Amino acid sequence: MPPALAPEVEQLAAWFKSCGLSDSRSLEAARSKYSPAAKSLFDSAGFQLHPIEDKQGALVLQVARDAQALSDDANLYIVAAIQDAAVKFMGAAVPPVDADAFNRACGVGFTITPEELLARVRTYISSNKADLAKLGWGGISKTLGQMRNSDDLRWANPLEVKAATEKVYEEEFGKKEEAMAKAKAAAEAAKKSKAKAPTASTSSAAATPVAESPEDLFGTGWLSRLHKPGGNQQKYPERMVEHLKATGGKVFTRFPPEPNGFLHIGHSKAIAVNFGYAKYHKGHCYLRYDDTNPEAEEQIYFDKILENVRWLGYEPYRITHSSDHFAELYELARLLIKKGLAYTSNDTAEEISAQRGGPSHGPRHDSKDRNKPIEQSLSEFADMKAGKYQPGEMTLRMKQDMQSPNPTMWDIIAYRVLGKPHHRTGTEWCIYPTYDFTHCLCDSFENISHSLCTTEFIGARTAYEWLCDALEVYKPRQSEYGRLTLEGAITSKRKLLKLVTGGHVSGWDDPRLYTLVALKRRGVPPAAIISFVSGVGVSTSPSLVQLSRFEQTVRQHLEMTTPRLMLILRPIRVTLENLPADFYLDITKPLHPKDPSTGSNTVPFTRELFIDADDFRVEPVDKNFFRLCPGATVGLLNVPKPIAYVSHEVDPATGAVTHIVARYVDDAPATFKPKGWVHWVAQHAPSASPVAIAETRLFKRLFKSDNPAALGDAYLDDLDPESLVVVRGALVETGVWGVVRDSLRRADEVVQLRKAEAEKNGTEAPPSVDGLEVVRFQASRTAYFCLDRDSKLEREGDGKDVARGELVLNLIASLKEDKGKK
Ligand SMILES: *[C@@H]1O[C@H](CO)[C@@H](O)[C@H](O)[C@H]1NC(C)=O
Ligand SMILES: *[C@@H]1O[C@H](CO)[C@@H](O)[C@H](O)[C@H]1NC(C)=O
Ligand SMILES: *[C@@H]1O[C@H](CO)[C@@H](O)[C@H](O)[C@H]1NC(C)=O
Repeated sequence: MPPALAPEVEQLAAWFKSCGLSDSRSLEAARSKYSPAAKSLFDSAGFQLHPIEDKQGALVLQVARDAQALSDDANLYIVAAIQDAAVKFMGAAVPPVDADAFNRACGVGFTITPEELLARVRTYISSNKADLAKLGWGGISKTLGQMRNSDDLRWANPLEVKAATEKVYEEEFGKKEEAMAKAKAAAEAAKKSKAKAPTASTSSAAATPVAESPEDLFGTGWLSRLHKPGGNQQKYPERMVEHLKATGGKVFTRFPPEPNGFLHIGHSKAIAVNFGYAKYHKGHCYLRYDDTNPEAEEQIYFDKILENVRWLGYEPYRITHSSDHFAELYELARLLIKKGLAYTSNDTAEEISAQRGGPSHGPRHDSKDRNKPIEQSLSEFADMKAGKYQPGEMTLRMKQDMQSPNPTMWDIIAYRVLGKPHHRTGTEWCIYPTYDFTHCLCDSFENISHSLCTTEFIGARTAYEWLCDALEVYKPRQSEYGRLTLEGAITSKRKLLKLVTGGHVSGWDDPRLYTLVALKRRGVPPAAIISFVSGVGVSTSPSLVQLSRFEQTVRQHLEMTTPRLMLILRPIRVTLENLPADFYLDITKPLHPKDPSTGSNTVPFTRELFIDADDFRVEPVDKNFFRLCPGATVGLLNVPKPIAYVSHEVDPATGAVTHIVARYVDDAPATFKPKGWVHWVAQHAPSASPVAIAETRLFKRLFKSDNPAALGDAYLDDLDPESLVVVRGALVETGVWGVVRDSLRRADEVVQLRKAEAEKNGTEAPPSVDGLEVVRFQASRTAYFCLDRDSKLEREGDGKDVARGELVLNLIASLKEDKGKK
């Protein structure tokens, strides 16, 4: 008898086994010296949730053993490549597997000497030199990505490949620093000559979105390694011939949400990947509502999903519904029964669970109905459709493989009785197909070339392919990427619902939430969301991203695209006692200090003005307080001369400062540089200055802790009562009306352009989904704001002129990361 194992080794071995390793390999891994490295690598790759093949596991263990010196990212990259290659190989190979071919495809035993590596890199670069020279050093990461796709370089150590490539680049294009400096100088010269070209001077503050680079997302990395249309193996090759004839070899993808809730930030990745991949390859992407569960569906979800897709900048090729295919699906279910591959069953949920081994994962056994005569199943299925059974009394199950290690093969349900009317088909059906039955077949009907989804569905791919093959229809290839989770954002439907129905937020679009409708209302630019998704990247590993990174992307985007205005959140009146009552000076200031093409605007400067209560202290808090206080002289942004403190008045009841008297230091020498600058707005009735803001809504994160999702149901106790502060009585400079008009006009121009283009195309232009949130600006020294839909604008003239109304502002983002948060 072998000696007893230490309990922790036994436990670890069981854990490795749950990741897919064989008994002996699990034990070997648990006993090895490198077991901690292996455990951590398996953990980060998420194998417990998505087990791998034993053979792949062996390769990953090798990585853990040999590559402990590499970074975690490098390791994960290798692991993803192994997984990818093995899965592709298995997808294409018909068992029994040829072990040598498998090993070649997965890089088992791959070795390369540094000389061979260098020679191969040289060959690659010299044979593609014309293309590579265009981008020079700037294109090196693209080159690396492409080389990784090439045969067996992907199995070489990525750090060595990188070093070899850099060496060859230096031979071909010169030293990196020099080449990059030259390229930069050339780009700047080009930019300058462009800036000099005459432009309409005071427009377009927000016109130029930050450039995204679809090349980064689709041209390199995981998405660049997917098969080409036609490359997905078929059990019935003639299906591919028909398929390519129908699609012309184009890429077809789909975004298939269930219309039973609001989309959130995590879905933006699915939208960007599916629509973006099709667009990049000049193909098409469907929006398909997966509406097979009438109990949870509502019209508002259908509407908002389409609105979200359009808001993010995509237009579906066609809008379809799974329910469009109910009749066809029903016929295919009958065909499956006739082929002896499905059966009706009155097993209860408990019985089905017991057949599948029960909660203790015991042995599995067949349903008593599995070998029911085909005729009986056909007639009972017809009875299901005819309403002769109540929900739960009868189901249609697929006859898959109860002995498969994959639970999605355990005779899963194809049809169930729901007895609920459907949103689109009314009372025509009382039976509805399940996701598992519907999804792959709708992909097949729509001739999807790339069925892209998250890694939770890896296991379901077996059932997906089983069903397509069983029915002898075209079989799309499902490929899975890691899901995007924003740490700190509550996205669970159930938890969101509780927040909304419990009155903790104002609705599904409360700007503190991370639903797409909320982000839109909050003023987050859609392009910032796409940049964020692109920046995080797409691979097979899940991405858990901190909120602060998302906020930083939004901030960077706003920094480049919003005009500056002066807004006083909590005003104190200031009188410049040495100026005459009718003193008036036009102050012209840039709308964006770093982007002169944004233009400028003009505001009045007078004897009476307002500064922010935060910019005045009766007693300075410390010696680094450089704003206004007794004895101080400070600058007013864009005003030629500084002001000096004279006196102040206090409300005796509250102790609050109500009025400051100061002096305009007209005779300050031109060389005088004040230590601090404050923003201001002046009172000048003829200019209707300042403009009063009805409500300024300041948001902080909804929860006190960084990751409320980790708190389970206690998340409601973690709500921050100060996550919304409404300020009334803020004042903004008159320039706000110009920004409102310009932003609305620009949004309208885009709509008109699209209309004209659609007319030319002979199609209907998609309706605009823009709201008042397109009016965005940076309140200098304060924060980024947008107009809330609660604002009431009074439109004049042609309806586009706005110079009056009630303004409600939402805080989009602070200017800097909140360091004091905790
Ligand atoms: C999909 O391809 C088939 C041929 O395989 C064709 O008959 C069918 O019309 C195509 N469907 C769509 C929606 O393009
Ligand atoms: C299920 O169907 C069988 C016949 O196939 C029948 O004998 C049995 O009573 C049914 N069970 C229930 C709970 O209706
Ligand atoms: C017009 O057709 C072109 C080419 O098919 C397409 O790229 C574009 O999106 C269409 N525009 C509209 C507004 O439908």
